[in-house]
Amino acid sequence: MSDGPDIGGNRIRTPGIDEDPVPVDAEVKVHDARAEAPEEDLDRSLRPPTLADFVNQQQVTDQLTIFIEAAKGRGEPLDHVLLAGPPGLGKTSLAHIVAAELGVPMVQTAGPALERKADVASFLTALEPGSVFFIDEIHRLGRAVEETLYPAMEDGELPVILGQGAGARTVTLPLPPFTLIGATTRSGLLTTPLRDRFGVSHRLEYYEAEHLALIIERSAGILGVDIDPAGAETIASRSRGTPRVANRLLKRVRDFAQVKGSGRIGANEAADALAMLEVDAGGLDRSDRALLETIATKFGGGPVGLSTLAVAIGEEQDTIEDVLEPYLLQQGLLKRTPRGRVLTQRAFDHLGVPAPEGAASLF
Ligand SMILES: Nc1ncnc2c1ncn2[C@@H]1O[C@H](COP(=O)(O)OP(=O)(O)OP(=O)(O)O)[C@@H](O)[C@H]1O
Ligand SMILES: [Mg+2]
Repeated sequence: MSDGPDIGGNRIRTPGIDEDPVPVDAEVKVHDARAEAPEEDLDRSLRPPTLADFVNQQQVTDQLTIFIEAAKGRGEPLDHVLLAGPPGLGKTSLAHIVAAELGVPMVQTAGPALERKADVASFLTALEPGSVFFIDEIHRLGRAVEETLYPAMEDGELPVILGQGAGARTVTLPLPPFTLIGATTRSGLLTTPLRDRFGVSHRLEYYEAEHLALIIERSAGILGVDIDPAGAETIASRSRGTPRVANRLLKRVRDFAQVKGSGRIGANEAADALAMLEVDAGGLDRSDRALLETIATKFGGGPVGLSTLAVAIGEEQDTIEDVLEPYLLQQGLLKRTPRGRVLTQRAFDHLGVPAPEGAASLF
């Protein structure tokens, strides 16, 4: 990571909670557990490069196009942007696109990597003027780090403490102008002061199958996969409304078609491959069904609390809340009630099991 501000070998601290002084040039650890996953490589290779390539989410892209053009026209950085929505819907892709469309560099990190105020300070002071500073998982920022961002976002200033003990004093460093783009799968966990400092805020929604089919066809072109429109539609309709899932299934179906068929993906090849991958007609995979089946069979359809459910299906609570539930809620298969999670009649129908007597009163 680049050097922090040169303040004569002084150690830099920001006022408040950080007790340990941190060297100015403290190396910033960027920890992203998913960085090494092959899934990441796939994401990168198929990432749409421009707003025009970014399928659907028309309202978001239309607005961003105008804001970007206006900011460029005024020679100012774009206002800070918050992108919220379930995993795999294109938040990181959009952040890259915004930086590219602005024609500025992008510096990327994630909430959990910014452990101390000094970590943020090193990033902010090293930004090239006008840059995009992208913070993924921004809901996971610590309180002290978040408070450092407030004056940085609002006034372009960074308060720092120079020296230690009785001689310590606070100075305010001016920052280069920048655009903060925050991405979150859990906008509900953001504090109001942080949320209020974003001038632009968008929520990405699950995609319709027709849009996913376009994404699949584009990805097939990039990957050199032979797929017909019916094949693309079949995969699209079972992709949980999520571009990342669509791309992943496309790759798996391609393997299947290559080994078991002629290599060409039509509706039949896609359906057979998806059945083998245990993706059902509703697009639910094994984890989705395990969650629904557990509530149905072990908890009589619910209500069941999140922590109990997590233990019962052997998943992290965060995974349930961030990855599994949003789609099941959106599909009307699951409901959140004050007493816990409850299956809907639709879920029982989907599973092909009768709803228990008592459960009906909860629908
Ligand atoms: N609108 C889109 N058009 C085309 N492809 C898309 C679109 N949105 C997402 N994708 C594809 O889906 C993949 C995943 O998107 P991305 O990594 O941007 O999601 P994300 O919202 O940042 O997910 P996470 O919350 O897990 O970080 C991208 O690599 C890209 O190939
Ligand atoms: Mg992302």
